[in-house]
Amino acid sequence: MRLSRYFLPVLKETPAEAQIASHRLMLRAGMIKQASAGIYSWLPLGYKILKKIETIVHEEQVRAGHIPMLMPTLQSADLWKESGRYDAYGPEMLRIRDRQDRDMLYGPTNEEMITDIFRSYVRSYKDLPLTLYHIQWKFRDEIRPRFGVMRGREFLMKDGYNFDLTKEDALHAYNRHLVSYLRSYERMGLQAIPMRADSGPIGGDDTHEFLVLAETGESEVFYDAEITDLKFGDREIDYDSVEQCQGVLEEFTSRYARTDETHDEAVWADVPEDRRRVARGIEVGQIFYFGTKYSEAMNAVVQGPDGKQAPVHMGSHGIGVSRLLGAIIEANHDDKGIIWPEGVTPFHVGIVNIKSGDAEADAACEDLYKSFVKLGLEPLYDDRNERAGGKFATMDLIGLPWRVTVGPRGLKNGVVELTSRRTGESEELPPEEAVAKIAAIYAGV
Ligand SMILES: Nc1ncnc2c1ncn2[C@@H]1O[C@H](COP(=O)(O)OP(=O)(O)OP(=O)(O)O)[C@@H](O)[C@H]1O
Ligand SMILES: [Mg+2]
Repeated sequence: MRLSRYFLPVLKETPAEAQIASHRLMLRAGMIKQASAGIYSWLPLGYKILKKIETIVHEEQVRAGHIPMLMPTLQSADLWKESGRYDAYGPEMLRIRDRQDRDMLYGPTNEEMITDIFRSYVRSYKDLPLTLYHIQWKFRDEIRPRFGVMRGREFLMKDGYNFDLTKEDALHAYNRHLVSYLRSYERMGLQAIPMRADSGPIGGDDTHEFLVLAETGESEVFYDAEITDLKFGDREIDYDSVEQCQGVLEEFTSRYARTDETHDEAVWADVPEDRRRVARGIEVGQIFYFGTKYSEAMNAVVQGPDGKQAPVHMGSHGIGVSRLLGAIIEANHDDKGIIWPEGVTPFHVGIVNIKSGDAEADAACEDLYKSFVKLGLEPLYDDRNERAGGKFATMDLIGLPWRVTVGPRGLKNGVVELTSRRTGESEELPPEEAVAKIAAIYAGV
C-alpha cells in the first residue's frame, strides 16, 4: 500500500473524550470512528488489525478441532423464553419488535441459538464430541460504554460451544479451549493469565477469565508473581490427549490468580508475601463449563451407549476480538504511539522516503516495495510529498514494528536505515540485506 492512495485519517490533536491510551491512539491513528455511544466504524487501518486478530483466533480454534460457522446477529425472543433468560437478562439486552409484532433481540451471546441448532440435528452420542464456534457481532446495552472498543455496546466476539456426553468429556473441551486461548494470545504478543472467575448469570461450576495486566484494566486482580513466568511457547500439543490438555491447565492454574470477585484472603495468605501482587487487568476471554443447564431447559438430549436419553454437557467459551485491539495497545505503546507486535501488525514494514521527488530515492523505494511484495510481505510506503519529520511521526503513531528509511545521502553509500519501533535502534545496511532481515523476522512469526 502507498500512503498517498490509502485512507488513513490521522488526527493531530488528542481527542478530549478519550480517557485511556488505547482509545486515544486508536482515534489518533485513524483506526476507528465513533458512530454512536459504544458503536464504532472500523476505518481501514483498524479493520485490518481486527481481521488479523480474527484470523489468529480462527486458526487456533481450527487447530484445536473446533468447527467454524456463523449465526445471525438478530435472534427470535422465543428461544430465550424457553431457556428462561429473556426476562432474566435485563436492560443490557437490546429488544426489537419487527413489523409482524414478533419479539426479536440483537444477540448478546448465543447459548440458546446453538443449543437449538444442536437439538435439531444431533440424536446420538456417536456424533459427539462436538464444538461449534463463530465470530460475530454482539450487542450489550452497557450502562457505561467507555474506553473505546474496550467496553463497547456493539463488539466482535468469538464464542464457542462444546457438546459432550459426559462431564469428563466436557472438561476436556474446557481444557482444549484453555490451551487454544493461551496459544492465541501469545501469537498476538500478549500475556493473558487464566484467573479463577465467578460464573455470574450464565451459571456453572468451572470458569476462568483470561486477563492482560494493565493499569487501565477494569478488574482488580491478585496473583502470585510466579505465574507471569509461565509461557506456552512453541510446544507441540495433541488436542486429543486428555492428559496433555489437563497438564497445561494444571500448570497454568497452579499459582494463585484471581479477580476481586473470587479473591479469598484465607488462600491468599498462603502465597509467600514477596510474591503477592495486586494489580489491574483487562478481561480478554472467558471459558465456562456449565453442565446441563441449557440442554435440560431446552431438551437437547442424545441417546447414550446404554440406549438411554440424556442431556448433553455443555460449556461456552468467549474471546473479546474487538476488545483485544485495545488490550494489545494498552500493553504496547509509548508516548509517540502504538507499537504493534509482529503477529498482528497491519503492515509488516513501513518505507519512508525522506526525499520524495528525488529520482534515486524514489527508485530505491520502488525497488524495496517490490521486493517486500514478492516475498509475500505487506509494506506501507510513505510516498507523500511531506517533511521527513511528519512522516516519522505518522509511522511512530501507527506503530509498524519496522521502518526502512531511504534518502539520497544513504543511497550514495549504498545503504538504507532499518529502525525498530520498539527499541528505537537503527542500523544502516544495503537494501537487499534490510529486506532479508525483515523477511527472516516474519518467517518466525
Ligand atoms: N462490552 C464489551 N465490549 C467489548 N468486549 C466485550 C464486552 N463485553 C464482553 N466483551 C468481551 O467478550 C468476552 C466474552 O464475553 P463474556 O460474556 O465473558 O463477557 P463479560 O464477562 O460480561 O465481560 P465484562 O465482565 O468485561 O463485562 C469477554 O471476555 C470480553 O473480552
Ligand atoms: Mg466474562
